[in-house]
Amino acid sequence: MARFDAFRSLPSSQPSSLCAFAPLRETLPVGPVVVGYFSMTRKNYLPFGKPNFSQEEVEAVTAVIRSGWVGMGPETIAFERELADYLGVPHVICVNSCTSALFLSLLVAGVGKGDEVVCPSLTWCSTANAALYLGARAVFCDVDAGSLCMTTESILEKVTRKTRAVVVVHFGGLGVDVRKLRAALPRRIAIIEDAAHAFGSGYPDGRKVGSSGNATCFSFYANKNLSTGEGGAIALFNSRHADRIRSLRQHALPIDAWKRFTHPKAILLSNHLTELGYKMNYTDLQACIGRVQLRRYGGLAKRRLQIAKRYVTLLGDMEPPLKFQSEITAARHARHLFTVQLGKRGGSLGRDEMLAALKAKNIGATLHYTPLHLMPLYGRKRCHLPVTETVSRSMLTLPISSSMTLDDAEYVSGHFRDILQRRQSF
Ligand SMILES: Cc1ncc(COP(=O)(O)O)c(C=O)c1O
Repeated sequence: MARFDAFRSLPSSQPSSLCAFAPLRETLPVGPVVVGYFSMTRKNYLPFGKPNFSQEEVEAVTAVIRSGWVGMGPETIAFERELADYLGVPHVICVNSCTSALFLSLLVAGVGKGDEVVCPSLTWCSTANAALYLGARAVFCDVDAGSLCMTTESILEKVTRKTRAVVVVHFGGLGVDVRKLRAALPRRIAIIEDAAHAFGSGYPDGRKVGSSGNATCFSFYANKNLSTGEGGAIALFNSRHADRIRSLRQHALPIDAWKRFTHPKAILLSNHLTELGYKMNYTDLQACIGRVQLRRYGGLAKRRLQIAKRYVTLLGDMEPPLKFQSEITAARHARHLFTVQLGKRGGSLGRDEMLAALKAKNIGATLHYTPLHLMPLYGRKRCHLPVTETVSRSMLTLPISSSMTLDDAEYVSGHFRDILQRRQSF
C-alpha cells in the first residue's frame, strides 16, 4: 500500500454529529480565525510531518530503476555536488542516515572510549547515541527556554578535561550561533552540528547552516524538510576527514562499487582493507529523489513558512499567551518543527490531554522530546536541567509540512483553541 494511502486508511475518530464541542465561532472573540468546521472531524489523519513528493520524484526513481544501477553511483555523486553548491562547502558526503553522519563525524574528530561529548537532552536519541557507539559518554546540557537550543554558556558549564566534542542541535530548524561557541571553546574540542532539523536554516549572521566549517550532519528521513525517505549527509571543509568518511561509509574499501564498475581493472585493489569500516552508504534510488527535492526546495520551504505564519496569526492572541519557539517565522529558521509551550496551563497531564484531544480530531500533534537525561539508558537524572525539564513537560508539536494546506493549519488552530478554551484544567 502506498504511503499516503496508509494515512488515508486510518479511521476518523468521530462523525461530526457526535462531536462533544460546539463550533468555535460561538466561543471566540472576533478575531482573524477562519471558522465554520471546527465541530467536525476531518476524515484523513493529518500526520505531524508528511513528505511532499511529486510526479517528478516518481519519474526520477523510475529512471534510476530502469538504468539498472540502483546502488551508490552517479546520482549520489551528482546529489553530493549539488548539495555542496547549495551550501557553499567543498565536501558533502551522503550516508544512510543522520545518525550515521553524526557517528562518522565524531569518529573522524577523534572521539573514543572515555571521552565526554556535550549535547542537549532535548533532542532525539541519535544525537547522544552517536557518542555512545564510540564508547564516549554523553554529557547533557540545558537549553534556552525561548530558542530551545543550547547556549554557549550552558555548554561551557558542562565542559571538563575529558570533553572531546560538542554536538550542537539546531532545534526545530533554528540556526545556533556556532562562531560564538567556537571562540569560547578550547581548540581540542570539536564542534559537530546536528542539523537533522535544519536543512535550509541560517546562522544568525545569515550564512547557511552547514557552511560553518564544522562537520554538519543533515537528515533526509521521511518527515524532514528535504526528504529521501531515509538518508543523511555530512557537509565539511576538512578534505582529510572527508576522504576518510567517504571510505568508512563503505567498509573502508579503497574503491567503491561504482568506481569498480566504471574502472574494471581497479578491482584488484578492492580487497586490501586496512581499517574497520561500516556499511553506511547512500543509494542512487534516494539520491535521485533528493536532487528533485533540492530543485523544489524553495517552494517547499515557502509553504512551511506560510503554515507557521498562519499558526502564529491564529493562536498568537490567546490568553494566557502560548509560547512558540523564538524566531519561528524568521529567515534563519527552517521550520521543521512548530512547537507550542502551554506554560501555566498545566503540566504533562494538560499537555497529554491536549495531544489526545487533537488525536481524536485526526490531528497528528506529537512530542519533541522526552528529555534524554531522564531515561535509564543515559543514567536517569544524573543531572538536573531545569529549563529542559520545565519546557518538555508542557510542550507539544503541531503538524507542519510542505504537504499541508493553509486550510489544514486553520483546522488545527481552530481545534487547538477550542480544546484549550473548553478545558479549564489546562
Ligand atoms: C535532532 C535529531 N538528530 C538526529 C536525528 C537522526 O536522523 P536520522 O533518522 O536520519 O538518523 C534526528 C531524527 O529525527 C533528529 O531529530
